[in-house]
Amino acid sequence: MDKLNALYQGKAKTAWETSDPDRVIMEFRNDTSAFDGGKTASLERKGLINSAVDSFVMQHLEAAGVPTHFERRIDANHVLVKRLQMLPVECVVRNRASGSLCRRLGVEEGAELNPPVFELFLKDDALHDPMITQSHCVTFGWASAEQLAEMEALTHQVNDVLKPLFLDAGMILVDYKLEFGLFNGQMVLGDEFSPDGCRLWDAQTHRKLDKDVFRQDLGDLVESYQEVAHRLGVELP
Ligand code: TYD
Repeated sequence: MDKLNALYQGKAKTAWETSDPDRVIMEFRNDTSAFDGGKTASLERKGLINSAVDSFVMQHLEAAGVPTHFERRIDANHVLVKRLQMLPVECVVRNRASGSLCRRLGVEEGAELNPPVFELFLKDDALHDPMITQSHCVTFGWASAEQLAEMEALTHQVNDVLKPLFLDAGMILVDYKLEFGLFNGQMVLGDEFSPDGCRLWDAQTHRKLDKDVFRQDLGDLVESYQEVAHRLGVELP
């Protein structure tokens, strides 16, 4: 399957059209950004590590009954996926307090959240991805109440599958962001699942192993991502 025109170039991935109108090639680039693009870098090997972790997690979710866009890994940086009609809504689940939740609500970082918190954000860089409610989604037509219910249920199902997967590998899944789209009318998990879009802490020491390493200058991001892959048993070239 060959890459044709670029459909969309995001901050860390490019989506390419293929000869099949229902399939897209996702390229994981080495570009890394944080703070709404305020801090950027190109980090050798980051694309291939994220591509490998994403493929591993998506296959795990698919096997557990979560419908995903994943079809197959093509090479180090490329994955073949179903072409979805994406909804402009980001779903976040938090098992522990961190990041914007602490800033917004003054909760102490690391506090356990039972039940986990579920939040919605609008996917809109110009508006800095503001937090939104179901009411905004319905009124402005970003997603229907039924679609949101399905997205929330799937997001929690992902938590039930991934929390133990990461814990068995010695990591706490602190929080993560998911994006969904429609494929022939079915709600399907799209985008990616990699350390770029979640928080992972060492289960014993709470050492950060995710993009906070880059955001907060805590060390070598690629080494941390490599460690995540290694702990999950994901083989890297
Ligand atoms: P959050 O704490 O709201 O944001 P910040 O990264 O600014 O502190 O993010 C919660 C989790 O969701 C975190 O793992 C990052 C991820 N996320 C994204 O990857 N992209 C986004 O646009 C948003 C809103 C969250």
